Amino acid sequence: MIQFANRLNDVKEYYFSIKLKEVRSLINEGKPIINLGIGSPDLDPPEDVVKALNNANIHGYQNYQGIPELRKAIAEFYNDHYDVSLKFENEILPLMGSKEGILHISMAYLNEGDEVLIPNPGYPTYTSVTKLVQARPVFYDLIEDNNWQPDFEAIENLDLSKVKIMWVNYPHMPTGSTPTEELFENIIAFGKKHQILIVNDNPYSFILNENPKSILSVKGAKDIAIELNSLSKTFNMAGWRVGMLIGNPKYLNNILKVKSNMDSGMFYGIQQGAIAALKLPDNWFEKTNNIYKNRRKIIWSICDKINCTYDTKGTGLFVWAKIPKGKTSNEITDELLYKYDVFITPGTVFGTKGEGYVRFSLCVKEEKIQEVLTRISKIK
Ligand SMILES: Cc1ncc(COP(=O)(O)O)c(C=O)c1O
Repeated sequence: MIQFANRLNDVKEYYFSIKLKEVRSLINEGKPIINLGIGSPDLDPPEDVVKALNNANIHGYQNYQGIPELRKAIAEFYNDHYDVSLKFENEILPLMGSKEGILHISMAYLNEGDEVLIPNPGYPTYTSVTKLVQARPVFYDLIEDNNWQPDFEAIENLDLSKVKIMWVNYPHMPTGSTPTEELFENIIAFGKKHQILIVNDNPYSFILNENPKSILSVKGAKDIAIELNSLSKTFNMAGWRVGMLIGNPKYLNNILKVKSNMDSGMFYGIQQGAIAALKLPDNWFEKTNNIYKNRRKIIWSICDKINCTYDTKGTGLFVWAKIPKGKTSNEITDELLYKYDVFITPGTVFGTKGEGYVRFSLCVKEEKIQEVLTRISKIK
């Protein structure tokens, strides 16, 4: 038998990859499963985006840094929506989804044994990629009483000498908590003080959020922070795989060294579609958010029925709900799956601090969510 690489010793198959196999087998048995687990937007991307893709007829390899028109469109978008000014020549690196950026950044900056600050709860990919590059995750707890913000005093009590990267993710997935200017300033000050590269992962700032923010809007942020962003959620383009890394060329150039050895540019038509998306007027966000607001209301009613509580100010594509005492997140999730044929995500997928919570996705049609409410009301 050929032994797999040591870097896989500690890495498990992605939770959804495993759980969705079970969900599919239940569907194959004839169960009418409604999937409120996954955050893949079900709504259509803007018409102009699809037109731009269809009109493109260049099929060759593309520039490793994306075509200049795409970088210019990203720079304009950042200027218009986040009040951040960027040089399109060297402060923007388009990515095939922001997820791949997590690996590229980690490969560019982490050696075996280096340490990485990761939010708990948080997006599981930060942890698995850290392990893939044989670095060590050091979790920092986010708790509801602190508005899901880092406790810097507690973090500074840790030995930070081996820490090279801190992942932050505001607006935060899964909790939906939003950043204040002060929070971003504190994160930047912390990164500077300890010489830790701050990476803000920012794919949710336009979903149910009145006040989109970039960490790069903080004065001096570009010295120590870079930011990932994505078209997946903002424009319902998750399958297109378009993301971006924003920041100082002193960081981006190292990351490009990795990326340019791994792919050969993004398909031209997709870049044209991305440009069309970035140029959409603001009513795009309103239209999409109105749909999510209606769905969220019904999810809140579902939560009420099963005695879960939630923050009505939460943002993003999910409702993060606190479950009643006496049950675990996995127990509630299994109860919903086996009793009501409804799949939701247990908070523990996002770390130990997710125990006591579950996550409902808003990426399902209103009628289906209503059907979940009806099922629960009938059987209860
Ligand atoms: C916090 C967070 N970061 C990054 C991603 C990846 O998004 P993309 O589609 O841009 O790779 C996701 C997707 O679910 C996410 O929730």
